[in-house]
Amino acid sequence: MTRYERETSTTADGNSMALKKVFVKTYGCQMNVYDSERMIESLTPVGYRETHSIEDADVIVLNTCHIREKAAEKVYSELGRIRQIKAERQARGQRTTIAVAGCVAQAEGQEIMERAPIVDMVVGPQSYQKLPELVFEAETEGRKIIKLDFPERDKFQDLPSRRSPQAATAFLTVQEGCNKFCTFCVVPYTRGMEYSRPVEQVVREARSLVDGGVREITLLGQNVNAYHGEGRDGADWSLARLLAALGELEGLERLRYTTSHPNDMTDDLIAAHRDNPKLMPYLHLPFQAGSDRILAAMNRKHTAASYRLLIDRIREARPDLALSTDIIVGFPGETDAEFADTLRMVEDVGFAQAYSFKYSPRPGTPASMLEEQLPEDVQSERLHRLQALLGQQQSAFNASCVGQVMPVLFERFGRNDGQLVGRSPYLQAVHADASDTLLGGIHPVEIAGANRHSLAGIIV
Ligand code: 5AD
Ligand code: SF4
Repeated sequence: MTRYERETSTTADGNSMALKKVFVKTYGCQMNVYDSERMIESLTPVGYRETHSIEDADVIVLNTCHIREKAAEKVYSELGRIRQIKAERQARGQRTTIAVAGCVAQAEGQEIMERAPIVDMVVGPQSYQKLPELVFEAETEGRKIIKLDFPERDKFQDLPSRRSPQAATAFLTVQEGCNKFCTFCVVPYTRGMEYSRPVEQVVREARSLVDGGVREITLLGQNVNAYHGEGRDGADWSLARLLAALGELEGLERLRYTTSHPNDMTDDLIAAHRDNPKLMPYLHLPFQAGSDRILAAMNRKHTAASYRLLIDRIREARPDLALSTDIIVGFPGETDAEFADTLRMVEDVGFAQAYSFKYSPRPGTPASMLEEQLPEDVQSERLHRLQALLGQQQSAFNASCVGQVMPVLFERFGRNDGQLVGRSPYLQAVHADASDTLLGGIHPVEIAGANRHSLAGIIV
């Protein structure tokens, strides 16, 4: 037993009793959602349980994102609100430990402590497995803690096993970091170089999720299709091989992965979209920009033509595949004609869904130092036009599903009584009147209506 475990009290039947509460607020991507779950799990054995009420929390963690503008500012304004809560709790004789975790923590470190003195600790994405010790130290010694190293030892080895999942779907991080160095992106600096978890470690975690009722797992990584974890034979396995191994888990019905780089769509991964029956016909594949000059300035290492060709090959392997993407508008120096190339790419490829952003300079990245940063109004106007086109495509894709019968994995209760909400194979939200007993299972639904953001259906 480590010294910080003494805080936990034990009941007569030997179970540990939760004494304290932790509140975690998550910003940004799905990888942060996964990390937040694991942070809570790491604190469970030392006597914490999750609360959704920030005022009740003994430990407040902000799991932050640095990918785009204003992310850091949001964190500082939240810290302003939390200062009030901490003061009110203090007046009641209650201590509150405040931790800033995630990518803003990694990028700003010491500066956070200086700007927000209420913060007790700053913990980077590679160090949160140490939260129990760090919280104990902060509480008992009252020291400010900054933990931003990239330790040699794999953090996943030091995290407790997954708690019983609450849902039929789960995220599972299999890869972290990125070596691509797109010139606009902070990820290589905040998350470090590529790392892939060993196959067996991933399979074990997946099995425990499935045993807890999970039917669909989304494998996560900043550049997940560059996955190359140690396989069962000691050699590096590709993402396609990992997906094949996971496909053998009984009870696991669906697999997805996100997010990917076009240059890492290897032949075996494309073939997996044809051959792996559990891999869903949906792919998120960012292209960022449609102009080769801009793609080169972004250091994307692919061209508009190579992306189109790749999409043709993937669609050949899986004709009904639905595509999603990420697009940046207003990269420094982007002309009207170059933006038109982006619109053309969208028109030519056709996306079922997409995320689009105004370029925002990220401190320390090469693109932030380029002259010719574009004015906000130009960026806004381009984003508006792009989103109008993407909206039409999304609505048209959803409308094309009306009349089809789709297997839907029901995940949660709908807003109306007697209604459940699930996901189609193409990741569309599907609403249907259905008995609670269908929750957590996959059932055929006839799609009767569609709008931009969801489908409505009838259980068959
Ligand atoms: N400005 C705007 N969008 C960005 N993204 C990453 N960095 C930036 C930035 N500096 C977008 C990219 C990426 C997604 C996760 O966020 O489109 O694929
Ligand atoms: Fe960032 Fe993705 Fe480029 Fe890596 S591949 S640098 S994570 S945008």
